[in-house]
Amino acid sequence: MANRLARFLCTLALLCISPAFGYPTGAPESSCVDMTPGHGGNVAQEFPSPYVINLSKQELRAGETLTITVNGNTDEDIIKGLLCQVRVGETPVGSFDVPADDEHLKVLDCNNSKASAITHRKADASNVVSFNWIAPQGLKDQARVFCTIVKSFSVFWVKQPSASLTLY
Ligand SMILES: *[C@@H]1O[C@H](CO)[C@@H](O)[C@H](O)[C@H]1NC(C)=O
Ligand SMILES: *[C@@H]1O[C@H](CO)[C@@H](O)[C@H](O)[C@H]1NC(C)=O
Repeated sequence: MANRLARFLCTLALLCISPAFGYPTGAPESSCVDMTPGHGGNVAQEFPSPYVINLSKQELRAGETLTITVNGNTDEDIIKGLLCQVRVGETPVGSFDVPADDEHLKVLDCNNSKASAITHRKADASNVVSFNWIAPQGLKDQARVFCTIVKSFSVFWVKQPSASLTLY
């Protein structure tokens, strides 16, 4: 009896700490490719989402900085969690510039490319998040920012695209 209870509690604990990137410390590297949170059986919402991904520029040279702002339409459209990449085709490119001691955000290395993704460090209740990305060397192509945005455990949008970005 005690044994069974112990096993039950263990299972419960495992379920609670399984990687779910709305909570609490950001997306794991296993989300790099499909950018989908492991939120139990919950499925992504259809687009359009109540968020805008705004870019400070439409064209960027190698080494230049782009400021990306993810903005909820209303105060209720909070960004509890996010995962963003700048992609050419399906490949994450460039690097996000986040101070190591940033309280809200941190970088991830996706596809062996340093700091090629950004995610939250802890769940937040703000409806706006802003961060910088640096264009890579030697790449002339069309890119796009993609963000997965988590509003709550069961409500999230996967791989929302920004407007197109020219790297030249
Ligand atoms: C988006 O960025 C542009 C350029 O920085 C700025 O002029 C515009 O006000 C921004 N729009 C929103 C909705 O934040
Ligand atoms: C990963 O990076 C390599 C180059 O290092 C590239 O050839 C490949 O297409 C990338 N894969 C994805 C899924 O982005």
